[in-house]
Amino acid sequence: MPQRRSKRVAAGSNKGGVGKTGWVEMVAAALAEMGRKVLVVDVDPQANVSRRMGRPYRKEQPFVTISEVVKSGEVGCAADAIVPVGWGGIYAEQIDIIPSRFDLENRISEAAVIGSRGRLARALEGVDDRYDFTLFDCQPSLGHLTQLALAAADYGVALVEPEYDGVEGAIRFRDFINDEINRKEMGNLDLTFAAAIPSLVDGRLAGHAHHLGTLPGILGEGQVWAPIPLRSVVKDAADEAQPLSAQGSRGTEMREVYKAAAERMIKEFV
Ligand SMILES: Nc1ncnc2c1ncn2[C@@H]1O[C@H](COP(=O)(O)OP(=O)(O)OP(=O)(O)O)[C@@H](O)[C@H]1O
Ligand SMILES: [Mg+2]
Repeated sequence: MPQRRSKRVAAGSNKGGVGKTGWVEMVAAALAEMGRKVLVVDVDPQANVSRRMGRPYRKEQPFVTISEVVKSGEVGCAADAIVPVGWGGIYAEQIDIIPSRFDLENRISEAAVIGSRGRLARALEGVDDRYDFTLFDCQPSLGHLTQLALAAADYGVALVEPEYDGVEGAIRFRDFINDEINRKEMGNLDLTFAAAIPSLVDGRLAGHAHHLGTLPGILGEGQVWAPIPLRSVVKDAADEAQPLSAQGSRGTEMREVYKAAAERMIKEFV
C-alpha cells in the first residue's frame, strides 16, 4: 500500500514578530512528545527556527539548506537537506528539520522564472511520507518565499497577536489563501486556511481582551483556536535553543498549552 504523505501546515502572517516561529518549534516538540514524527521546514532567511532547534548555519561548516533545495527544485531533492534537530533525546528521534540560512533571500529574485513557485513542492515530493506533520515556518510576508511554502502546503494557519496590526496581518494571510486566483497560480487549489491562533496573549492588557473578543466574528467561530499566552519561559527556551522541557517545572504550563495545540492539529488535520 503506498504510504500517505504527511499533513503539511504553513504558519504565517503578514505581520512580523507575532509568534509564528515559537508556535512551530513548540508544537513540533509537543507532537514529538506525543510520539508523532515531524518535519520542520524553515522557509525564512532569518533562520530563527533553525537556530532555536539547534541547527544554526555556520559558513565554516556548511551544509545543504532550504536555499539549495529551492534553487534546484528537482523532484525529491529536499531529502538531501534533512537533518535531525540539534536538541537530542526523543526530539532528535522524532523531529527532522530542513534548515535555512540568509542565502535564501537570493531565491526571491527567481520569482519571475517560470515554474519557480512550485520548486519546494516538487523538492518535497516523496520525501515526507514517513512524517505525520510537515510544518513550514514562514517569514512575515506574502511574497515569493511564503508562496513556495503555500504551494506545497495542505493548510495555512495564522498566528494572531491580538492587536490591530496583528489582526490585519492574519486577515491578509487568510485572504491571500482564500483567493482562488492565488491558489491557482500556486498550483495548489486544495490549500485551505484552517485556523487563526491568538498568540503572545498578555492577560494584563485590556486591548488584548478586546481583540480576542472580536476574532471569532472576523475570522470565523470555528477557526479561532485556543490562545497561546505570553510567558517569559518561552523566550528563555528560544534564546537558549532548547525545548521547554529543559526549563524544568517553569515550562510545565506552556508545555500543556502547546500539547493542547498539538492535539487540536491531530484532531483537525489527520
Ligand atoms: N508564547 C510566547 N510567550 C512569550 N514569548 C514568545 C512566545 N512565543 C514567541 N515568543 C517570543 O516572541 C518573539 C517573537 O516570536 P517569534 O520569533 O516566534 O515571532 P515570528 O512571528 O516568528 O517573528 P518573525 O516575523 O520575525 O518571523 C521572540 O522573542 C519569541 O521568542
Ligand atoms: Mg519567525
